[in-house]
Amino acid sequence: MTRVLQVSAELYPLLKTGGLADVAGALPAALAAAGAEPRLLVPGFPAIRDALTQECAVAPVALPWSEGRAALLRGRLPGFDMPVYVLDAPGLFDRPGNPYADAGDIAYADNHRRFALLGLAAARLAEGVDPAWRPEVVHAHDWHAGLACAHIAASRARRRTEARTVFTVHNLAYQGLFSADHFCDLGLPATHYAVEGLEFYGQVSFMKAGLHFADAITTVSPSYASEIQAPDQGCGLDGLLRHRASALHGILNGVDYGVWSPAHDDAIAARYDADDASGKARCKTALQSECGLAVNPDAPLFGIVSRLTEQKGLPLVLEALTDLIESGGQLVILGSGDARLEAAFADAAARHPSRIARRIGMDEGLAHRIYAGSDVVLVPSRFEPCGLTQLYGLSYGALPLVHRVGGLGDTVVDTTLEDLAAGTATGFVFNAFTADAYRRALRRAFALWGRQTCWAGVRTAAMRQRFGWDAAARRYVEIYAGLSSH
Ligand code: ADP
Ligand code: GLC
Repeated sequence: MTRVLQVSAELYPLLKTGGLADVAGALPAALAAAGAEPRLLVPGFPAIRDALTQECAVAPVALPWSEGRAALLRGRLPGFDMPVYVLDAPGLFDRPGNPYADAGDIAYADNHRRFALLGLAAARLAEGVDPAWRPEVVHAHDWHAGLACAHIAASRARRRTEARTVFTVHNLAYQGLFSADHFCDLGLPATHYAVEGLEFYGQVSFMKAGLHFADAITTVSPSYASEIQAPDQGCGLDGLLRHRASALHGILNGVDYGVWSPAHDDAIAARYDADDASGKARCKTALQSECGLAVNPDAPLFGIVSRLTEQKGLPLVLEALTDLIESGGQLVILGSGDARLEAAFADAAARHPSRIARRIGMDEGLAHRIYAGSDVVLVPSRFEPCGLTQLYGLSYGALPLVHRVGGLGDTVVDTTLEDLAAGTATGFVFNAFTADAYRRALRRAFALWGRQTCWAGVRTAAMRQRFGWDAAARRYVEIYAGLSSH
């Protein structure tokens, strides 16, 4: 049983800005079921500190700079069956809301310190500051935890630990880049600031720290694992990723069906499943009323639950909004982010109030009601490392309409005539990232809507898909075992 420390900045259900939280929240139980012994390390954000029980102090963490204090606590968090370590540093983490940015969405100026300390705390645990439990493997998620790999490499060089590291890329586009002037705050040996280290075009890159120093690298779908090795999606790191290709694994994320299943979801108007989907019609009516849309079972309802960022391909939806409306569709969009996208959807909703609804902000309950009430979920992302919303769409019988990229292409089967006949179609997939290709997929969705029996068949196939965490957890456990036996 490999003792593995999971390090992440977000954790569903306590703190979430996107899919990282869902993964960090679901993976520990799946790893335990697959035979590992996981524990977690998370920053002491208010939502985490408030939920922590049975708290005890493990050790102070020395800061690489002069002011402030930090300590490692161990305790329990609701919903997690294993002890959790919390990096308590009120000066750095006791800030409300988003873990990375202030209320105006400006990244905190001391993010390099905040997340360097997270990596440092992971290294202290790997060195054995908790006499009761020392990880053999530290599994760091995304750039926020990337420095764990660099700190552990440094402590290994000083023979203070033998722990190995796994670094998972959830999104290569967010890299944690900071001015080189901040390097002295990171607590790392000077030799780490090098091309063969975490230097990236004259800056410090936390993402590169993970990619360079980790013993194994994973990312969240097989297709994304190949895409990031080419310049188009390599974000300047494709050369390094090609160099490390033998240590890079694409492991598809799973779905926590304890949370994302219409058969036992308390947030939705009626429960249903693949054998009896009749409750879905009630969920649709309820969603239409809740959002002020015309209550009409015959209008195909398209749902979007998304961060409003360039990644998500929403300009395609805006460009073809007239097609969606003129063909008789409705749209509900929940999300926040880019001010121009927010304004464009607000404007569209104001022009077509009975056909388009938009809600801003994070609303977990409404997200569930959108998956349950929609006929289609739109995920036309320009790039998508894995994507969870299309998987939730499948589970709730909201057929995903997706761009064939990253995890989207790995999980949705287009409604071609062959796949329709074979009963394997689960959604609508378009290849080129153009409004035209998106429009054609939209037309396929309307064509299928016109054949309700076929639609119901595809919906059943979609709902029967299973992307449980067990397969992914088994792969991670194999990787841990391979590393810890070295
Ligand atoms: P990403 O991590 O790139 O944002 P994913 O598809 O992996 O994309 O995960 C998105 C997660 O965030 C899903 O759980 C989705 O339901 C949720 N989500 C996104 N926007 C919102 C929102 N405005 N309100 C509630 N949940 C949201
Ligand atoms: C990132 C990616 C998304 C992925 C999620 C969880 O936020 O953008 O595609 O599903 O991480 O791995």
